[in-house]
Amino acid sequence: MALQKKGMHGAWTSRWTFIMAATGSAVGLGNMWKFPYVAGSNGGGAFVLIYLACILLIGVPVMMAEVLIGRHGRQSPINSMNEAVHVSGADLRWRSVGWIGVVAGLLILSFYAVIAGWALDYILLMSSGELQGINGATASAAFDNLLSNPGRLIAWQTLFLMLCVGVVIGGVKKGLGIAVETLMPLLFLMLLLLLVFAVLKGNFAAAVGFLFSFDLDALTWRGVLEAMGQAFFTLSIGMGAIMAYGAYMPQDANIGKTILIVAFFDSAVAIISGLIIFSIVFATPGIEPSAGPGLMFISLPVAFGGMPGGLLIGALFFVLVSIAAWSSAISLLEPCVAWLMEAKNISRVKANFIIAGVAWVLGLGSVFSFNIWADYKFAGFTYFDFLDFITANIMLPISGLLITLFVGYLIKRDIIDTEMQGTSERIIRLWELTIKYIAPFAIALVFIMGVYDKFTS
Ligand code: TRP
Repeated sequence: MALQKKGMHGAWTSRWTFIMAATGSAVGLGNMWKFPYVAGSNGGGAFVLIYLACILLIGVPVMMAEVLIGRHGRQSPINSMNEAVHVSGADLRWRSVGWIGVVAGLLILSFYAVIAGWALDYILLMSSGELQGINGATASAAFDNLLSNPGRLIAWQTLFLMLCVGVVIGGVKKGLGIAVETLMPLLFLMLLLLLVFAVLKGNFAAAVGFLFSFDLDALTWRGVLEAMGQAFFTLSIGMGAIMAYGAYMPQDANIGKTILIVAFFDSAVAIISGLIIFSIVFATPGIEPSAGPGLMFISLPVAFGGMPGGLLIGALFFVLVSIAAWSSAISLLEPCVAWLMEAKNISRVKANFIIAGVAWVLGLGSVFSFNIWADYKFAGFTYFDFLDFITANIMLPISGLLITLFVGYLIKRDIIDTEMQGTSERIIRLWELTIKYIAPFAIALVFIMGVYDKFTS
């Protein structure tokens, strides 16, 4: 079997490029927008602890499994999964894992581009000076003003998707590779600058207290499901993004160590973002940490607007968020593009425009969820809430569960042995233990309890 073959899409220049790419995929709106508000509305510390446990016990093993399948197949997630299923002689229905993933990816990309568009809009809004000295009411009004304007949302969503196409069109080395090598160091630099600002000007102690103090009472099964969904979402696992990136990983790179580095970076960015946001929020009287999705777009501008020089820093903050979203969204686009190229034998350019076009159309529903369709609800969800919930909390865990079962019990031993070469015995043993006995049960338990809780409360 062609274990060492080269794929048609090329490969990363080095292990380091893979680390930057996977970190770029992982670090995104999930870390900066979602994590702080989900942690905030689930009581802080206890949620953070469960979240970190999910990263280590479920996220890391699943991520390693994905990279392993991807690097073995060296194709899009759908075809890499097909190959692993064939080589292992497993039931062909296991191939659906690749499909769930790519469909979830397209759905996520469609709403991700809309939210990323808000961040782009806020770069302008913050630097315009319009928000000088705003209060809670005017900040909500400014946010509502954006949301109620479909044309403005569509313009930003379109621009954001074009930015993604601009990168993915360049291919693995010249497009994605160069983009992540430039964007990620920039992102870390900006994050550190903002952290310094938060320590100097914000209420850093209150932020630390909030993120690291345990309030077990505030935690529900729903919260635990959200913590796990968040771990999947933030590590970009369960949909094949990491499988696709793994397909471009050099054969000599050590999977275990590499993935631990990526998971560490990702958690560090989530926690640092949380510290920055809550330091600023707690320094401003009258703002609640549990403000929900509006936390970043309403509470932060108020806080920034009340600080000397704050608006400029605020603009910088939204540049940071936009860059993070950009380097994530390209990892949602790439697997679909790679698959379309393989399946239909078309050029990368064409595949990019087709997939981005589909994501654009699907995204219109999310745009309208905030204005003209806001009152159309399905089981209490708007179109946007529904997509967000079924992707992060249902599709990603289900495909994650299937991946753990497939890699834990069915995959051909050869594949593991080849791909795990170089990874230390101890890590392999720990990994096998988690992927076989811990991750699948944890995912299933949390999933069932969380969904039960969601629909009974
Ligand atoms: N991880 C990204 C974030 O935290 C989002 C993302 C990128 C993603 N690719 C993904 C989520 C694949 C799930 C699956 O914002």
